[in-house]
Amino acid sequence: QRELLSLSKAYEDLFLIGAAVNHYTIDSELSLLEKHFNSLTAENEMKFEHIQPKENQFQFEYVDKLVSYSERYGHQLRGHTLVWHNQTSDWIFKAPEGKEMNRDLLLERMKSHIMTLLKRYKGKFYSWDVVNEAISDQKGEFLRSSPWLDIIGEDFIDYAFRYAHEADPEAALFYNDYNECDPEKRDKIYTLVKDMLEKDVPIHGIGLQAHWNIHDPSMDHIRAAIEKYASLGLQLQITEMDVSMFQFEDKRMDLLKPTNEMLEKQAERYEQFFKLFKEYHQHITSVTFWGVSDKYTWLHDFPVRGRRNWPFLFDENNQTKEAYWRVIDQVSIS
Ligand code: G3I
Repeated sequence: QRELLSLSKAYEDLFLIGAAVNHYTIDSELSLLEKHFNSLTAENEMKFEHIQPKENQFQFEYVDKLVSYSERYGHQLRGHTLVWHNQTSDWIFKAPEGKEMNRDLLLERMKSHIMTLLKRYKGKFYSWDVVNEAISDQKGEFLRSSPWLDIIGEDFIDYAFRYAHEADPEAALFYNDYNECDPEKRDKIYTLVKDMLEKDVPIHGIGLQAHWNIHDPSMDHIRAAIEKYASLGLQLQITEMDVSMFQFEDKRMDLLKPTNEMLEKQAERYEQFFKLFKEYHQHITSVTFWGVSDKYTWLHDFPVRGRRNWPFLFDENNQTKEAYWRVIDQVSIS
């Protein structure tokens, strides 16, 4: 029987180890959160529709609870997310009665949202995902079509960062995206951020969501992406990591538990990922999992409704998986 080491302690000289939490897991996973993680992200509760469901009616209760929880248990906090095309209240894109929607009004509302949050929680969050998933997945299209883009124009991204920086000049501001290792999308993300730096837009980091699986993306693509982003001289954070047992196109529904082959493959993949993160630890400042244990993950429902998945280092009974030991071994083996 090997001694159960704390993940975050094992990695404390390299980077923070984070978990996304929600109103359910924050209580039910307390012992794992306390022992293994030193950073937290709200999975949903800081998104626009939760925080400001109606104009100027802010709901801070959950985030306030998260802040006091993190102070009690010694976690640092990542803010997720300020400007996104998803989970954003409809009212923000609608004109008041008798008026037309326009760029200035949306910028004003964006500013008020960002300022309110960053000022209220000044000094409490070490990083913020200021803009999330603005790059298109489609070949030949640069930015994703969204009301932000359609109403404000391409510079909505620059404005979001400028407002955030004005509200809290000390906060580390991130652009965060998925499919971040796909070569075409990687180059678009790189170009976006490079252009922002050339325009002196206050951006400090790139978030690699890392919604990966036991086959994809390849290690070569992951390394190339980390290398390319790191060349911009910004911080990198792994922000939403999970390692699905299924490739995206795989619609299989028959499994009630993962096969041994899947668990072994997942352990190998985690080992390779953390080996790489360790190699780039001068750039990578935190690695956050998009959940805590296999008991709860958004992947139980995605992309196949009702299918279970097992993407983390702890199983459905909060016990360590082979993947956990491989990740631990990456720091003890030098
Ligand atoms: O809370 C309601 C509940 O009342 C209702 O009964 C139920 C019925 O579907 O829905 C519940 O809301 C769901 C919510 O998660 C809370 O579980 C929403 O339908 C569902 O859409 C929402 O999904 C979230 C998703 O973002 C939305 O896009 C996932 O939990 C969350 O993990 C996921 O996180 C995103 C990151 O923010 C950005 N990157 C991708 C990542 C994964 O999609």
